Amino acid sequence: MSPVPEGSPLPTSTHAIRAEGLLKRYGDKTALDGFDLAVPQGMVYGLLGPNGAGKTTAVRIMATLLRLDGGRAEVAGHDVATEPRKVRRRIGFTGQAPAVDEILTGRQNLRMFGRLFHLSQALAYSRADELLRQFDLTDAADKGVKEYSGGMRRRLDLAASMILAPKVLFLDEPTTGLDPRGRNEVWSAVRSLVAGGTTVLLTTQYLDEADQLAERVAVIDHGKVIADDSPVALKQRIGGDQIEVVLQESVDLPVALPVVAKVAAAAPEVDDENRRITAPVEHRVAALTEVARTLQDEGIGVEDIGLRRPTLDEVFLRLTGHRTGEEVSA
Ligand SMILES: Nc1ncnc2c1ncn2[C@@H]1O[C@H](COP(=O)(O)OP(=O)(O)OP(=O)(O)O)[C@@H](O)[C@H]1O
Ligand SMILES: [Mg+2]
Repeated sequence: MSPVPEGSPLPTSTHAIRAEGLLKRYGDKTALDGFDLAVPQGMVYGLLGPNGAGKTTAVRIMATLLRLDGGRAEVAGHDVATEPRKVRRRIGFTGQAPAVDEILTGRQNLRMFGRLFHLSQALAYSRADELLRQFDLTDAADKGVKEYSGGMRRRLDLAASMILAPKVLFLDEPTTGLDPRGRNEVWSAVRSLVAGGTTVLLTTQYLDEADQLAERVAVIDHGKVIADDSPVALKQRIGGDQIEVVLQESVDLPVALPVVAKVAAAAPEVDDENRRITAPVEHRVAALTEVARTLQDEGIGVEDIGLRRPTLDEVFLRLTGHRTGEEVSA
């Protein structure tokens, strides 16, 4: 049963991905429950949600790897249910588990993928060299993949899914398990893909990753998109900037509190243990200057003072009532 009336065409548009009312059940477990998404061309779009929210299910349906039970999806201009082969020719997919072969070198892996995609030998070889350059793997090209770092492996995975220069690339948690350096390497590889015109749909549990990479973010919970906006706008939903003051001595907290309260848009929060006072402010720079000067005039030792925007984690908590790391129960 489809919630979209038969025969009503999906709007033809510049969207790289459109999904309407996707339904997916595993037995009596509903994994997708009316999932909607519209991804404009040429950007990184983040799909953000906790374990079990339905991210992989959604991405696998849109990449034609899984059949849907209801709704419709169009990717790179073609319907995933009725034209899966056309969709497949236009997309790349990097899953949660790596696809490259440990025994082979990076270059051998990419040549092999080229041949698997029916490129001629000459084309497979030149495409491999091109991708090694693009993903900054030329120096490691002839080393066995077993010698690669985590970040290098993921970049090779990305390169392998780019063999046919897809219009749309699906990345399912591309940086899970990587150290910060590996994450940065993958992030810059993703940025260069988008600069080259690819649309990227990226799933992540990391709020800072969505913040770093994605122009827009859909927040998914219990198989449904519950918010869809730019990272900045999502953060604005829970109020503006926060001023944060950390004192050297906790005995000064009662003196500093009214100083912060005077510039705050709402009652400050006090964290005794960490000697920290936090409050939302409207005029961020004026507030910061005023608090810093007053505390100095009063001779109160300040360990740290600054302004910060709310994190996406706080946004998620506000939207869903639970934290991103908590398993969703049915
Ligand atoms: N093959 C399957 N059989 C039964 N249930 C499944 C299957 N695959 C996923 N599910 C269930 O469907 C729901 C959505 O799973 P999915 O893998 O899409 O979530 P996810 O957001 O990708 O989670 P994670 O962050 O852990 O990768 C979960 O409750 C999961 O247990
Ligand atoms: Mg998943």
